[in-house]
Amino acid sequence: MDNINLKGRDFLCLLDFTPEEISYLLDLSADLKAKKKAGIPHRIHEGKNIALIFEKTSTRTRCSFEIAARDLGAGVTYLDPAGSQIGKKESIADTARVLSSMFDGIEYRGYGQSIVNELAEYSKVPVWNGLTNEFHPTQILADFLTIREHFGHLSGIKLVYMGDARYNMGNSLMVGCAKMGLDFVASSPKEYFPNAKLTARAEKIAAQTGATLSFESDPIKAVSGADVIYTDIWVSMGEPTRVWEERIEALSPYQVNMKLMNAAGEGAVFMHCLPSYHDLKTEIGAEMGKKFGRTEMEVTDEVFESERSLVFEEAENRMHTIKAVMAATL
Ligand code: CP
Ligand code: NVA
Repeated sequence: MDNINLKGRDFLCLLDFTPEEISYLLDLSADLKAKKKAGIPHRIHEGKNIALIFEKTSTRTRCSFEIAARDLGAGVTYLDPAGSQIGKKESIADTARVLSSMFDGIEYRGYGQSIVNELAEYSKVPVWNGLTNEFHPTQILADFLTIREHFGHLSGIKLVYMGDARYNMGNSLMVGCAKMGLDFVASSPKEYFPNAKLTARAEKIAAQTGATLSFESDPIKAVSGADVIYTDIWVSMGEPTRVWEERIEALSPYQVNMKLMNAAGEGAVFMHCLPSYHDLKTEIGAEMGKKFGRTEMEVTDEVFESERSLVFEEAENRMHTIKAVMAATL
């Protein structure tokens, strides 16, 4: 891994990285995590500055970028969904040229992947994708670090993604699993499987890495022998409220509950990128719960709170892995 150098690279999608480069980022994450726990300073980017553009809301990703930057010695400027000119009064290309003349790195969370790609095209400094409709690559690094910590390896792990697999999490997990030699299964009605073009690309990668990809609409069959059962909210940021009804109807059979966990076997763990609607303690959860007569959506509270749930380890690992991306590319 000594020959790997990611300096100056963008981090837009895992399709752009080799399995060796992804392993390098995971190793670096583990190293930076150990340093943080041991109180060993690692201010390797002292004096640098990064811009955080968020056109959608965030808890984990924003905090991870801010804390990680500070730990590396860098300053941050946060541009919130309402407080910048981006897209409304200033084009992406102009924004990229302005910001990259002031900052050493730019994080972008927003809508289409084409926007973050354009930002990177016009930026002189590295651009990091903090989530688009299509991909959420920093999340996958955190997920894979968590799986590696729990199982000791990635290759051969069977990861079953339950729910809307057409969106950022389903797409990114499929690509990540293909790159790193996992057995990926998407379980949902077939209209919710990742699109054919991306699947074909992932299949090609899988053929080289020993990964397998499968698509199974029967949830009990899908989880047989699973090591990881993964889900995400049924309605993503930026989608209209009216799709809740259709999602609840289509995806209820794919809710992660104890019956499903038990069908997977004793060693199976539960993962979720968060935030999650596993109870009525959120505004939207309570509103949709009342409207549709449900107390839980994509995962039951019992599974979420169980010992088999790795969600908070996974959330912590967002920070260590985002730090590795910045440490390596700045
Ligand atoms: N998982 C994740 O990206 O969380 P946030 O939306 O809180 O950043
Ligand atoms: N699919 C979700 C992921 C949140 C981390 C969304 O885009 O809202």
